[in-house]
Amino acid sequence: MLGTRSHDKLREWKTNVGHNANIGTFNETAAYGEVLILAVKGTAADKALQLAGMDNLEEKVVIDATNPIADAPPVNGVLQFFTAQNNSLMEMLQEKYSKAHFVKAFSCVGSAYMVNPVFDSKPTMFICGNSDDAKDVVTEILGLFGWEVADMGEAESARAIEPLCMLWCLPGFRENSWTHAFKLLKL
Ligand SMILES: NC(=O)c1ccc[n+]([C@@H]2O[C@H](COP(=O)([O-])OP(=O)(O)OC[C@H]3O[C@@H](n4cnc5c(N)ncnc54)[C@H](OP(=O)(O)O)[C@@H]3O)[C@@H](O)[C@H]2O)c1
Repeated sequence: MLGTRSHDKLREWKTNVGHNANIGTFNETAAYGEVLILAVKGTAADKALQLAGMDNLEEKVVIDATNPIADAPPVNGVLQFFTAQNNSLMEMLQEKYSKAHFVKAFSCVGSAYMVNPVFDSKPTMFICGNSDDAKDVVTEILGLFGWEVADMGEAESARAIEPLCMLWCLPGFRENSWTHAFKLLKL
């Protein structure tokens, strides 16, 4: 189920997906989902979770793909964030919606590559979050989607993962090149 404030704008999408998916309010969608995905405008993430309803988030895994991108335009291709360096959007959300289990994932790759990424080798998805059980769920999903997973630790590690979106977008804004993903090389 895809949550939205405006069913109208998703009418064509719904026609295409038919019975395979549904549209709901943020509240209906959060109540319906066993695993939730937060993929909203960063400045509206808190508002969207308020609309989802605190009770509907309780003990749920929330895959957090959002980035704290400010409304100000990029500077020489570098996105501007509304968070400070020693904080992150996911930490703020985890603190406020403390009964949900946030896991940062999918935030530093374009939507075209989130499922079945086609590169010469398997790309790496960096994840983090406070709940090992929630990270296990997300790791399984990422494996099915064709990703290698690098668990970077607890919620604070989102301070390092969220800015990867700036790096990912740089070739895009500077050279209109959007066909890449990150890979962690290890010995
Ligand atoms: N697009 C990508 O390739 C990509 C890749 C990685 C990460 N991300 C991250 O994913 C998030 C979503 O990106 P996007 O590309 O889909 O576009 P977006 O414009 O950043 O987000 C659109 C979503 O935000 C919601 N929204 C906007 N304003 C709202 C408000 N005032 N209150 C509640 N909800 C609001 C919209 O809900 P309505 O349907 O109700 O308008 C819609 O669900 C962003 O944080 C982005 O950084 C995107």
